[in-house]
Amino acid sequence: MTTPRTYSRLDRLFIEAEHALGSALIAQPAARTANPAADVPEAGLDAAQREHAAGLMRVNHVGEVCAQALYYGQAAFARDEATRRQLLAAAAEETDHLAWCGERLKQLDSRPSLLNPLWYAGSYAIGALAGLRGDGWNLGFVVETERQVEAHLAEHLQSLPESDARSRAIVQVMKADEARHAERAQEAGARELPVPVKGLMRVASALMKAVAYRI
Ligand SMILES: [Fe+2]
Ligand SMILES: [Fe+2]
Repeated sequence: MTTPRTYSRLDRLFIEAEHALGSALIAQPAARTANPAADVPEAGLDAAQREHAAGLMRVNHVGEVCAQALYYGQAAFARDEATRRQLLAAAAEETDHLAWCGERLKQLDSRPSLLNPLWYAGSYAIGALAGLRGDGWNLGFVVETERQVEAHLAEHLQSLPESDARSRAIVQVMKADEARHAERAQEAGARELPVPVKGLMRVASALMKAVAYRI
């Protein structure tokens, strides 16, 4: 009885595609948790500082688009129902981050990356590949993704203008959340990814960061 399983996966693909188009890419997703910068006063940034902060927050926004796509791609092909549920829950938590970064970009008179559909499609494909490798890999992929994101958020805290307390408040909370996501996946039985795979993920994310800062 392989036919119903194939249909169900196809169904999932359509549901995910709809999610991507409706929520992550076109509409401004709604956060379930208050924006950490809501009560933080706006700093008087000069044009160069504003542009730099917007570049970094655009990179973070793309990172969250990619995280959603990875987790939905992985969930669509996860073998174990518990893993699938955990991946979908992780994706839902990233929606807050996506919304906060989107709000900050607007406040900085900027916009999300024009290449978001491309980032989403690429990440979804990578997530689907990880999903097909099995659940230990799936969780290992979550751990590595979250650790790399946490590391780049730490870099952003060094690089953001000192006075941009709003962007900093958002990045601080995201960084703590990503660390928790990694720990949770580790406890759920993540497999250590091979070094070349980690290296490839680092190259892909460096490329994304360089492009998304500008476009
Ligand atoms: Fe996130
Ligand atoms: Fe995360």
